[in-house]
Amino acid sequence: MQRIAVIVLLALATTAHAQLIPYPASVNPATGQFTITRRTGVVADPAFVSEASYLKSYLGRYLGAAPTGRGISLQKDASITNPEGYHLTITPQQITITASGSAGIFYGIQTLRQLLPAKIENGSGPTIAAPATDITDAPVFPWRGMMLDVSRHFFSVTYVKHYIDMMAMYKLNHLHLHLTDDQGWRIEIKHYPRLTQKSAWRTFNDQDSACMQLEKETGNPDFRIDPAHVRVVNGRTEYGGFFTQAQIKDIIDYAAKRHVEVVPEIDMPGHMMAAILQYPELMCEEKPASDWRHGFSTPICPCKDTVLEFAKNVFGELADLFPSKYIHIGGDEVEKSEWKKSPLVARFMEEHHIASLDALQSYFNDYMQAYFHSKGKTLMGWDEIVEGGINSEAAVMFWRPWARRSPYEATANGNKVVMTPDGPLYFDAWPDRNTLESVYRYNPLDTMYGMSEEQQKNILGVQANLWTERVPTGDRADYLVMPRMGALAELGWAHKDRYADYLERLDASYDRLDRLHVHYRLPDLPEMADRRVFIDTAHFMVTMPGRWTVRYTTDGTIPGPASPRLTHPLTIDHSLTLKVAVFAPDGRRGDVQEVGFDRQAYATPVTGGARPGLGCTRYKGEFNHTRDIGGTPDSALTTPGVGLPAGIELPAYGLQFRGFINVPETGIYSFFLTSDDGSQLRIAGRLVVDNDGMHPAREKSGQIALQKGAHTFALDYMDGGGGGSLRLTYSKEDGPVKPVPNEWFSY
Ligand code: ACM
Repeated sequence: MQRIAVIVLLALATTAHAQLIPYPASVNPATGQFTITRRTGVVADPAFVSEASYLKSYLGRYLGAAPTGRGISLQKDASITNPEGYHLTITPQQITITASGSAGIFYGIQTLRQLLPAKIENGSGPTIAAPATDITDAPVFPWRGMMLDVSRHFFSVTYVKHYIDMMAMYKLNHLHLHLTDDQGWRIEIKHYPRLTQKSAWRTFNDQDSACMQLEKETGNPDFRIDPAHVRVVNGRTEYGGFFTQAQIKDIIDYAAKRHVEVVPEIDMPGHMMAAILQYPELMCEEKPASDWRHGFSTPICPCKDTVLEFAKNVFGELADLFPSKYIHIGGDEVEKSEWKKSPLVARFMEEHHIASLDALQSYFNDYMQAYFHSKGKTLMGWDEIVEGGINSEAAVMFWRPWARRSPYEATANGNKVVMTPDGPLYFDAWPDRNTLESVYRYNPLDTMYGMSEEQQKNILGVQANLWTERVPTGDRADYLVMPRMGALAELGWAHKDRYADYLERLDASYDRLDRLHVHYRLPDLPEMADRRVFIDTAHFMVTMPGRWTVRYTTDGTIPGPASPRLTHPLTIDHSLTLKVAVFAPDGRRGDVQEVGFDRQAYATPVTGGARPGLGCTRYKGEFNHTRDIGGTPDSALTTPGVGLPAGIELPAYGLQFRGFINVPETGIYSFFLTSDDGSQLRIAGRLVVDNDGMHPAREKSGQIALQKGAHTFALDYMDGGGGGSLRLTYSKEDGPVKPVPNEWFSY
């Protein structure tokens, strides 16, 4: 009897540990539990009063009164060397968190929190139990960040605090606020009131209309322009908003209590259109906006004393406001053609012996860096700041995967670097079933960067960026960053491959996220072929873990919470398109997946070709789609099967493979066609796979019902330049996927 109780309790402990994200360095679940009641007090070292008060109010919300007495102890342990490390022990008698600093204590509290049942987040009750355990933990990287672009679309103080709350739960410690850009200035600067009176507001722009269009197309209210950020002035409707310095202080204070440092970015010298529209003297040569409002905007002019004065005044107010060590100067994508045309710039470069426009940006960075230094701050910038040379004290944010050498160059120069590459760590990228894993598996120390061990020590850590051109609401922001933020946290904190159990821990954590009102992206349906062929009837079924329901429609409409539930296999006897989606307990819908069912008769065989292989005609030229392939053939080749013939050295071309495919058995065949760029496969005159258009290597699949024997085979392929690939595999009746054997082809 007792033994069973022990096993049950240990199972409970294991379930609780199955919610920990990021997973701690060392976890030893024990038997038993500590029951927290209103009489469980928090006793803390004086250095940890803020953390003690955070914990008391957190528990007090659930218990209905702040706990008093003893039971939870937050103590100093100077032997824990990592300033963010901690030791958490839970026994039936006591909960103890020790650390050398307050950050470690805070992270110990976050781990304790994730060990408590999810109802702690929004429920109430007289007691709540923490499973016995012993956890020793510390992060691998000191910088675990999230960027929020509040310029392209604006977010309220309430939303920023919610963002900070999500970060704190996952032990992320830097919130980078992208406060200004071409589309809006979002922070009060007392020296320059027009920056917020005017530059914080715009009439609806192309980014707003893109969101409106997305709302219309998808019916998704997350794309709605938030009416809280719209005003009408003298009959003119404007979008915008800004943080007052008092609001910024409130955000900084809120974040500091959660051990999140807020790093401000004012993007200079490019991306400054919002400011220039009100202060045109910031340009080298003043001209009407219609002359320069194109592409990336004209940069401000580093060759004018008034501009340097402006930059110092702005950053001076920032340095006084933000306690962060780093201040971000942006520095990305500076469109230098206006500098190139300017006689003022030419004169200045000659006088100062500045050899290139990149070096002119470096001159500006050096000047500002010295100013930051005088304010006790360190300059940080996007990786372009490395190009014209940069002082080794500056810190760099690597974002351009195509400038892969820049982490090498920066770390070799002694600069600290935060890895935040476009692709895996740009969370504005539309998520699909692969994005979470690509975040998790991103390696900031990858050998592709070529850094020595010594250079790797300059990697501060990782950060994900949320650019908000198409993110007009907090709900859309939540959807894009969650659950990716947890994968980022595990990458930055643990940097170990635990992906399989990470997915289980994620699954166990959705209940908590629901209670915290996080508008996360729902999990994907299992992977499925998106076009299916059948002869008499087809069956369709997918299952998801217990908390999710799957709903579908067959009439082309988007499934809603009232659409039929998929609880047993559907029998399909005519051609139709099924739309399927996962639903959360509160009725929220996941991404909609389409599956086409095509009722076909078996294609009857024809007489095949006399020779083995396929004919392949090549066309020189740039084609956007395979249907555009044409003109005079460049050469006629034969190939043993499907693949790119060796020795094609054209920058852009099209290929037409023609012949027959001889299948050995009657059945339903699936074909999987991967190409970079576009391709289309037709068999027996039927379109089987449409993978057309310009795109990176991508697989598409389709099915066809074939009688045993030869059928016409036509595959078109185009490479628009930049290198190509082409591959065809098949499976029969959902069997294993294999390459299509060359012996099947004739022409
Ligand atoms: C950036 O994405 N332009 C830093």
